[in-house]
Amino acid sequence: MLAKGRYMDLEQIAYPLTSCKTKPNKIMRERILPFLQEHDVKRVLDYGCGRYLRDSAFLAENGFTVDAVDLEEQVENIDSERVRFVKSVSSSINESNYDAALLNFVLQVLPTEEQRQKVLSKVCAVIKPDGYLVLSLRNQRDMKHCVEHQGTPYNDGFLMRRGKQYTFVRGYEREEVEAILSKMDIVEIIRTCDSFITISQKTKLYSILKGGRAIQSPMPGEYAGNSPRKIFGRLDCGTGKRLMKPENRVFFHTLEDAVTQGYRPCNNCKPINEQDFEKIRDLIPEQTLEEFYKRRTK
Ligand SMILES: C[S@@+](CC[C@H](N)C(=O)[O-])C[C@H]1O[C@@H](n2cnc3c(N)ncnc32)[C@H](O)[C@@H]1O
Repeated sequence: MLAKGRYMDLEQIAYPLTSCKTKPNKIMRERILPFLQEHDVKRVLDYGCGRYLRDSAFLAENGFTVDAVDLEEQVENIDSERVRFVKSVSSSINESNYDAALLNFVLQVLPTEEQRQKVLSKVCAVIKPDGYLVLSLRNQRDMKHCVEHQGTPYNDGFLMRRGKQYTFVRGYEREEVEAILSKMDIVEIIRTCDSFITISQKTKLYSILKGGRAIQSPMPGEYAGNSPRKIFGRLDCGTGKRLMKPENRVFFHTLEDAVTQGYRPCNNCKPINEQDFEKIRDLIPEQTLEEFYKRRTK
């Protein structure tokens, strides 16, 4: 057994190129592929795609547009035969707004929590609001294999020898997987004999005005407004939704938030009645509800 101190320089730890299997696993074929197809996913990022582009090539063959990303030093080793399937292979993410991202068996090879957080945030940041993350990790049970094969304990996992190099691997408990996904809506966590394979959805965040400040919220607030025209209405106002460009749409936490920003009510969905008007009459110049609805806007 080698002394632990020998591995303290993280640069000495090689990340595994990939597993040798070029066929996607059963769950990818039977659960993830149908899920992505049913949820209108078109553009996918495969982060830490591995040398054989196992999942990238499979999804590309099934009609998805796939960008594959791996470390700079790995990109040149990527199997050139399979590169033709995918849209691009690079060492950095060159697009954002992916409908889904794969992070399959990547976090488990990163030896520090800091590195894992960095990769996870980077990937989550390029998934569009409402988009999906497919995250796969080895489970703790699989670590028995590391012990049996004389892996050396290192940080919170093991170093395994691969030829002259060492690779890090760490197993996860279900609660840890849930904690990693806590900022997302978990759709499914599938436990196999050696892994957790998960699908989760990014929570859509609305930028809403509350007390004069813009905040991010998973709820859109009570009203929506058209910022150039300074008109607010109900969230389901047909005219508003049909005619408004998304970049002109603002959300308000409450009625008070809308009127103090100088918005007048929409004449189509009529979002407020006399009772509501009483609550805000001191905040606006108009004396009656009728006058308020008739306020001239641009
Ligand atoms: C165990 S392999 C998994 C490959 C592939 N996702 C699969 O499931 O077959 C881990 C991959 O993550 C890549 N990787 C490790 N750290 C990375 C990082 N910071 N950025 C991008 N890729 C990384 C490695 O180079 C390696 O190809």
